[in-house]
Order: sequence, then structure tokens, then C-alpha cells
Amino acid sequence: MKTEHIKITDIVAQEKDLCRAAAILRSGGLVVFPTETVYGLGGNATRDEAAKKIYAAKGRPSDNPLIIHIADPTDAEQYAVTNALYYRLAKAFMPGPLTVILPRKNTIPKSTTGGLDSVAVRCPSHPVAHRLIELCGVAIAAPSANLSGKPSPTSAAHVAQDMDGRVDMILDGGESEIGLESTIVKIEGDGLILLRPGGITRDALSLLCDKVTVADAVLHQLAENERPLSPGMKYRHYAPTAPLVLLSGNEADVLRYLQTEAASRKCAILCYDEECEALASGILFPVGKKDDLAKQAHRLFAALREADGTDAEIIYAHLPPQDGLGLALYNRLIRAAAHTVKEV
Ligand code: TXA
Ligand code: MG
Repeated sequence: MKTEHIKITDIVAQEKDLCRAAAILRSGGLVVFPTETVYGLGGNATRDEAAKKIYAAKGRPSDNPLIIHIADPTDAEQYAVTNALYYRLAKAFMPGPLTVILPRKNTIPKSTTGGLDSVAVRCPSHPVAHRLIELCGVAIAAPSANLSGKPSPTSAAHVAQDMDGRVDMILDGGESEIGLESTIVKIEGDGLILLRPGGITRDALSLLCDKVTVADAVLHQLAENERPLSPGMKYRHYAPTAPLVLLSGNEADVLRYLQTEAASRKCAILCYDEECEALASGILFPVGKKDDLAKQAHRLFAALREADGTDAEIIYAHLPPQDGLGLALYNRLIRAAAHTVKEV
């Protein structure tokens, strides 16, 4: 299939392009579009065959459910059974990087939800995504637009590496601002279960709901026989070719360890900006200042793709803190590293 690439810099002047993209989606085709978290591989959420095409393009098992993207929080009514807690979350965090799991209505086929009776709903804030969904007039089902097993794409160049020839159109809306996928919560009674940490932190959710629990799979490796609450958690999300090792310990010790390693073998290092000078003999991928977690989130997936493109024998990164936005970084890195942490 020939993929059309379109750069969108002005959603008003380029309404025609967006209308064409919306028409492709309505008629069952695939369009990759930018969001504030990562790029999405979109298809019509109400059409059985669109979900099948998405799974095929991604090379993803079809029991891993898709998130449906809506233009306005109230549009959830058409596809899911909402409640007061949903609207409290929507008022605080939508549009934005939050996905809420709700009971599914029959307008969404089971092929979109991986056979589940629940559906994941998200209202993105990126202007291109928002206008595209509005013009489409129907929810867009979209997983991250990477090939299964690769890091989520945060730029149109990453998307092209994975999806050229597999989709009808790629809309380039620049770099994704947040860089990590949305926070996913499941509403259970009057409480929330955090299934995937992201741009909306646990603390921010706790201000709104006093019963927030973190699903086991967020922090720990599940045993063979354990069933995660979110099917995506059971998949090894992304594994670089070279082993990825996360380093834990005090700052000076970790830096000394990295210096010794970089002097003796080819190491790719996802380092803090302030470490670049001291680590000059390594293959460096600076991810931001030590305290700038937002920048580190924005850079993480690009840095992992870049590090994986080198001939390094081993890739090192710092073990992130487990609070605030750090929890989202921790969750992505610990899975990419298959839980390999070295205490130095
Ligand atoms: O930021 C994002 O959420 C991006 C952009 C494109 O919106 N999308 C994204 O989709 O990350 P994906 O498919 O890569 O991840 C969706 C996750 C999977 O882990 C899946 O298992 C979980 O959401 N999920 C979807 N529907 C679910 C449901 N009904 N119950 C539990 N987990 C669900
Ligand atoms: Mg994904």
C-alpha cells in the first residue's frame, strides 16, 4: 500500500487535508495522527474490519484492546456506560492524557476491545487529533503507532520507520509534547485502579478520588499464571537488541560505575544532561536534566530508539523515582529492561 504523508501546521488552512483523512477513517481505512502523548494508529472504532486492519498493521495480538478517542467527554455516552466519577475525571483532566475504562455499549464491537465488555475512552488535547475526530463524526480506535515490540513513536519520523506502506495516511503534527502514553484508570465502585501511569499522576488523581490503588503489573513483574487487569501489561512492550540495565544507587557511585564501564566497553548511556562531560567516552543520549522529569518523559522513547540503533554491547539508564511523573518513566523503563536493575 502507498502511504500518503501530510504535514499539518495549520488546522484551519489545512481543513481539506483533515477532511480527507476523516473520510479515509470513516470508510474503514487507517490514518496515523499526532496526539499530545504519542502518535496513534487510527481506525473507525465502530467497524469490526478497522480493528482487524489495525492489529495487522501493528503486528499485534488481537486480544490486546484498543483505546477509543473522542472529541468531547460527553461523546462517551454513545459508546460506554458513564457515571459521576467519570465526569469528575473528565472535568479535571479532559481533554488530556487520561484514559478511563468503562462498561462497553454495543456500538463498539468486541474486536475493538479485544473481546472485553469494557472499553477504554480518551479525549486527546492535541489540536490535530481533536479536529480529526470531530470531522470523522465517530470515535477513532487507536493504539500507539509503533510496530508491536518497538517503543511508541513520538515523531512522524519514528512513525514512518514503522508504518510506511502499512497505513493509508500519516499526519505529521510535530513532536509529541508529553512523550509517554496516557494514564489509564479503571473505575471500580467509587474507587480508581491505576492500570498504567502517565502524564496525569497518581497524586493528581488522589486529589479527586480518595481511593486510588496501583495495579500490581505497574511496578512488578507478573508471575506466569497471573492475569493482569489490563491485557497490554502482559506483553513485553519493548526490548532493545542490546541488554538494557537500570542503575540504582547514589549519584556519585552511579557516575563512577558508568565511567568505568564506558572506558572498558561500548556502552550506550541514557544520561542526565549534567553528566555528559564526565561520560564523554560513552555513546551518550542525554534525556534532560536530573530534576526535569517532563523533559525525560518527552525524550525517553526517542532516546531508546536511538540507543538501539548503535552497535553498543549494553545500554544503561538511571532507575527513575517511583513517584509523580517518575512512576510513568519507571514503568516504561523497567519493562524495557525486563526488570534488570543493578545496585551500585
Ligand atoms: O496515549 C495513549 O494512550 C496512546 C495514544 C495513541 O492515545 N495510545 C496507546 O494505546 O497507548 P495502546 O494500545 O498502545 O495501549 C493501550 C493500553 C493497552 O495496554 C491495553 O491493554 C489497555 O490500554 N486497554 C485498552 N482497553 C482496555 C480495557 N477495556 N480494559 C483494560 N485495559 C485496556
Ligand atoms: Mg502501545
